[in-house]
Amino acid sequence: METERSSCKSRIEDHPILDFPARKEVTFTWEGQELRGYEGEPIAAALHAAGIKVLHTSHKSKRPRGFFCAIGNCSSCLVVVNGVPNVRACTEKLREGMRVQRQEGTGPAPRSRE
Ligand code: FES
Repeated sequence: METERSSCKSRIEDHPILDFPARKEVTFTWEGQELRGYEGEPIAAALHAAGIKVLHTSHKSKRPRGFFCAIGNCSSCLVVVNGVPNVRACTEKLREGMRVQRQEGTGPAPRSRE
């Protein structure tokens, strides 16, 4: 699959005219790998900062998909969160302990909680 991780991890930490308030760091996993991000930021932002760009593969052609509209209007960033498919990574807020996985096509069937 195309480079899903860039060699350059990026997150703007300091900016000449924008302030970034102090945020709580949380731990979550991506494909079983432990990563860190900031509580409340979009999952996609935390993944992007870790160099992860491929979040989803398309249903028919299995092409890699990632961040596109970033406002919840497309379905390019669908991921599986704690076993629940079709979560939009660009609008879902990051929380401690989330298990995030790449979604292949339509993703796994959701499981009943019973
Ligand atoms: S990038 Fe379009 S819905 Fe998330």
